[in-house]
Amino acid sequence: MIDLRSDTVTRPTPAMREAMAQAVVGDDVYGDDPTVRRLEARTAELLGKEDAVYMPTGSMTNQVAIRAHTEPGDRVIMDIASHVVRSEGGAPAALSGATVQPLLGDRGIFTAAQLRDALGVTHPGSPTTLTPPATLLTVENTHNGGGGSIWPLELLDEVVVIAREAGLSCHLDGARVWNASSATGIPPARYARDFDSVSVCFSKALGAPVGSALAGSSAFVTRARRFKQLFGGGFRQAGIIAAGALHALENHRGDLAHDHEKAGHLADVLVSIPGVELVRKHVETNILRFNVPGTAARFVDACLARGVAMLVSGARAVRAVAHRDVSMDDVRSAGEVIREVLATRDSGARSAAVSVMTC
Ligand SMILES: Cc1ncc(COP(=O)(O)O)c(C=O)c1O
Repeated sequence: MIDLRSDTVTRPTPAMREAMAQAVVGDDVYGDDPTVRRLEARTAELLGKEDAVYMPTGSMTNQVAIRAHTEPGDRVIMDIASHVVRSEGGAPAALSGATVQPLLGDRGIFTAAQLRDALGVTHPGSPTTLTPPATLLTVENTHNGGGGSIWPLELLDEVVVIAREAGLSCHLDGARVWNASSATGIPPARYARDFDSVSVCFSKALGAPVGSALAGSSAFVTRARRFKQLFGGGFRQAGIIAAGALHALENHRGDLAHDHEKAGHLADVLVSIPGVELVRKHVETNILRFNVPGTAARFVDACLARGVAMLVSGARAVRAVAHRDVSMDDVRSAGEVIREVLATRDSGARSAAVSVMTC
């Protein structure tokens, strides 16, 4: 099976397992797991922040950030296709009582003007008590729903300036900020610089089995620790999994460029197949989102039957992700399977269209 569903399917290497087996551990709820503390300190250092807190998932780091930055009834502004909006089970409303104001970004990237419009104007005729107070901006970089898109630094800086002027806090969902840095050479700390909090993942693409961290000022992270516990995230000898994350951070980040090469190769194949809709330059990191003729479900099932797994992400939309557990040869084979499947399906898609027209 060539599994292109996600970069979360990456598994620990023997060296990572060895590091985990050797991990020195303690009770993290009492703050005395030395391996967790090392991971937190190293993450904070890479992101240029004072501290970080290790948690089980990226969803939890995002939700703890939202809870720590807001009060019930507050408005959180973010892109409509962001992971927080689409894939965290409605948690901002359920866990923080927050109202999400989604912006229609272009591959997850919105402009300063859009943010300004969303913030609205203050006028005596529109009392501010009517609108939910906007208190948090959340940005995702790279953007999963946007096909691994990277925020241009100038745009990122601009939206944060607008948010600051309006008194908002700023959170970066940097689950894949490592990919953004690998692709652009811009250090993670620069991407994180103007954000009050940054969440990062170790279990995506880096091969660690579990975990994410939320970084920020010492005061913010102390507050975040309270909500980590409140959300049931206080884990005990978590050093065993933190050791895997540390190993990933130190040894696997440098390999992300290969994932991007593999995604680029698959993109080259896809754009050469008639009927596939993909803009080649939009494949900037490891995620590909493309449309197929006919239904995505039939296409994905046909590929799966030939040993290539991808995700359906819309009626005609498919997601494929390159990662460290698939080789360039695997990606080449996957490209051939996709070509074959679409060559067969192409006639099917056309005859279906004709039968619709003749009905
Ligand atoms: C951008 C982004 N943020 C957050 C998450 C959530 O991470 P987790 O699956 O660890 O909850 C994901 C998961 O894929 C993601 O893509």
